[in-house]
Amino acid sequence: MVHLWLRAETKPKEHRAALTPSSCRVLIQNGFQITVERSTERIFNDEEYEQEGCTLVPFGTWKTAPSDAYIIGLKELPENDNSPLSHSHIFFAHCYKNQSGWKNILKRFVQGNGILLDLEFLTDERGRRVAAFGYHAGFAGSALGLDVWAQQQIHPGQKYPSVEHFPNENDLITYVKDRLSKAISVKGYTPRIMVVGALGRCGKGAIEFARKVDIPEENIIKWDLEETKKGGPFPEILETDIFVNCIYLSQKISPFLTKEMLDLPRRLSVIADVSCDNTNPNNPIPVYTGNTTFGNPTIAVETKNTHPLDVISIDHLPTLLPRESSEQFTNDLLPSLLELSNRDTAKVWVDVEMLFRQKASLIDS
Ligand SMILES: NC(=O)c1ccc[n+]([C@@H]2O[C@H](COP(=O)([O-])OP(=O)(O)OC[C@H]3O[C@@H](n4cnc5c(N)ncnc54)[C@H](O)[C@@H]3O)[C@@H](O)[C@H]2O)c1
Repeated sequence: MVHLWLRAETKPKEHRAALTPSSCRVLIQNGFQITVERSTERIFNDEEYEQEGCTLVPFGTWKTAPSDAYIIGLKELPENDNSPLSHSHIFFAHCYKNQSGWKNILKRFVQGNGILLDLEFLTDERGRRVAAFGYHAGFAGSALGLDVWAQQQIHPGQKYPSVEHFPNENDLITYVKDRLSKAISVKGYTPRIMVVGALGRCGKGAIEFARKVDIPEENIIKWDLEETKKGGPFPEILETDIFVNCIYLSQKISPFLTKEMLDLPRRLSVIADVSCDNTNPNNPIPVYTGNTTFGNPTIAVETKNTHPLDVISIDHLPTLLPRESSEQFTNDLLPSLLELSNRDTAKVWVDVEMLFRQKASLIDS
């Protein structure tokens, strides 16, 4: 019997879950045993899991789980703990691309004989990721981009306040629609929003949000590789109000915008940088530094122009809609989870374990 142990997330303002109550129902019907750590932060109540037949245990007790249980979560393990890891862990570890601290986390697995089955690297036969949060990242990035623009019109000069997650998508749409309608009556026009990386997961989500708040199709400018192949910088971006960057950066490209361009007359007043490549040497938007947070969502870019320019660069945007983003992610993950019962032969798990062994061999224990 496969035993999954849902770890409670510890990152501040993280309300998403790697397993939803409805996915637990399907897994239990298929003979899985599921243990859930109690959490007051998770968007789904403990009782919802209990009703599906999960066993509830105290917060943060995964270290005491039976050795054959898979510990499943989304974000990082609690910080300030360097103890060896002995279980098989399924989560986004962010340690395979030389990110800061990558050696420390891998070392813990090596020392404890544990295994990392990283969610980011679960791929199907065609090499495509089986589950990702991109759609809701773009959806949330577009929502915040439009709302920051609304704030600039309704309360000029006032900093955009901290943001809390929304209980569901409809509440977010209603809220932004209302703010946009006030802003449009002040400004006298409907904003133009430009999505670059429009054909990808994040791009599709960004476009869909703009449609859901009734931005007319001609005001949603959609660019992907075809439109950027001539090479940046692109003065066209300055003619839009909100620029949502959703590209997957895989090589050196010329910048989309430069700092000098922002001194020119422009309509652009909001950049929602969903891709958040600001620490990458090939960052196509080198006009700001550092990420923003839900507590402090925008950075104001200083220019010689009096027109404002606010940047949103939050690296866990799907948290704005924890319910829908968790449901969509877990539904996509479910077929692979069901294959855990043949873990030794299921390609998706064999490949991701092999990747772990390769990466682990790069560090000294
Ligand atoms: N901020 C967040 O919370 C968050 C969450 C999820 C993903 N992301 C990031 O968003 C980015 C996009 O993820 P995705 O899942 O949508 O990727 P994806 O591969 O589904 O889509 C990327 C799109 O970008 C396009 N693209 C690549 N280079 C381009 C260029 N130079 N010009 C124009 N278009 C270009 C591709 O053709 C593709 O359509 C990634 O960097 C990912 O890490 C951020």
